[in-house]
Amino acid sequence: MEKILVRGGHPLCGCVEVSGSKNAALPIIYACVLVRDKCIIENVPCVSDVRHSFDILRGIGARIRNLTKTTVEIDCTDVECGISEYSLVRQLRGSYYLLGAEFGRFGRSRVAYPGGCDFGVRPIDQHIKGFEALGGTVVTDGGYVEITSPTGRARGANIYFDVSTVGATLNVMIAAATCEGMTVIENAAREPHIVDCANFLNSCGARISGAGSNVIKIKGVDQLHGTNYAIIPDMIEAGSYMVAAAATHGSVRVTNVIPKHLESIAAKLEEAGVVIDEYDDAVHVSVPGELRHTNVKTLPYPGFPTDMHPQMCALLCCAKGTSFINESIFDNRFRYVEELKRMGAKIKVDGRIVSIEGGTPLSAAPLMAVDLRGGIAVVIAALTCEGVSEITGVNLIERGYDDAVGKLRGLGADVKKVLLPDPDVKKANA
Ligand code: EPZ
Repeated sequence: MEKILVRGGHPLCGCVEVSGSKNAALPIIYACVLVRDKCIIENVPCVSDVRHSFDILRGIGARIRNLTKTTVEIDCTDVECGISEYSLVRQLRGSYYLLGAEFGRFGRSRVAYPGGCDFGVRPIDQHIKGFEALGGTVVTDGGYVEITSPTGRARGANIYFDVSTVGATLNVMIAAATCEGMTVIENAAREPHIVDCANFLNSCGARISGAGSNVIKIKGVDQLHGTNYAIIPDMIEAGSYMVAAAATHGSVRVTNVIPKHLESIAAKLEEAGVVIDEYDDAVHVSVPGELRHTNVKTLPYPGFPTDMHPQMCALLCCAKGTSFINESIFDNRFRYVEELKRMGAKIKVDGRIVSIEGGTPLSAAPLMAVDLRGGIAVVIAALTCEGVSEITGVNLIERGYDDAVGKLRGLGADVKKVLLPDPDVKKANA
């Protein structure tokens, strides 16, 4: 079993480079299934959700070659439909983009029901609504989601989403790229990774307009061709290092970012007393005085991202006064709170509102990453206090953070990953 050991209590200083966006890489990787050609994708993050997705695509016949550490060639010329490996697909949420990609290419699809971080209920009703509007008949049973269409091809439609949903917006956009006729998605999500996937598809010959607004128009084309495309930087990874720098009263330059994507995060950090200096493709973070309490409400982009909620909570534990976080996206993204309370954090959860009595120094403790962003939040909290914290659940952090330990060490953090004998194996050998 692996653990991360963090000896905190000193400021992070130096420069950290952000990797490609996990949440942009996943839809783009699965969208390659639409393309009977080679696609070269650059700035791919080295995270386990991406590696799992490569294994899923290889399992259906894709040929995938690493050209460099972060550049990959994906050739889906000979992929087959409906044969993806159940045990692999169910390990992550992003695998559900295979539904839209298979439906767009073959007019049908059969994929295991998705997994992903446990935030309570994570429905896919809006995905199903979209596929049905595109002429699909959707059946979910036996752990699978199956789409069929009487004509053997998805056809364009007008779709109005009941909620702002990143996944369903992307899934329908992918399916509609090669369907017959025009599709209009209204109340579309506006996240940068949706724009990135639209730009990727357009570089393959798709005809998508309006991505980034809440109305996206897709004129279906018969065939897509190969491309060479670079993924945008990961705004949540960037935000996580910005918060780590602020929480440790450090001085850190975060490079390979698109400052516009960080506007809501930077604005909230500035309210908390953090100084953010903005450059073309970097931001610099420092804290000249005390951290201040503030209030956060998570919203769809361009609002404050829900994926930054746990990290912000760790920061506000270090800010004198009472802060509130209103989690408006997911009904149960609060499991990380119990871990911070082990460190002495004074946090209460009432419904979707987290209240934080900040300012009392946290203390090191044995901790657990309960999910991807909760995991990096406890690492950030451990960096703020004296003593050694041992953090398990490293695999959950590595789903979405490329070499977090290496990057933090590069900022002067006393942090390392250790491999401990598996207690069960020890007992068995006794
Ligand atoms: C994506 O999840 C991200 N995951 C999440 O990031 C992120 O938190 C989320 O978008 C919001 O930004 C990936 O990109 C792989 P949604 P997704 O569909 O697509 C409700 C991380 O840490 N909803 O935008 O599942 C849903 O319950 C992960 O990187 C429906 O009601 O999110 C939620 O309340 C965690 N019906 C809201 O919409 C549906 O059919 C937003 O969900 C779909 C969603």
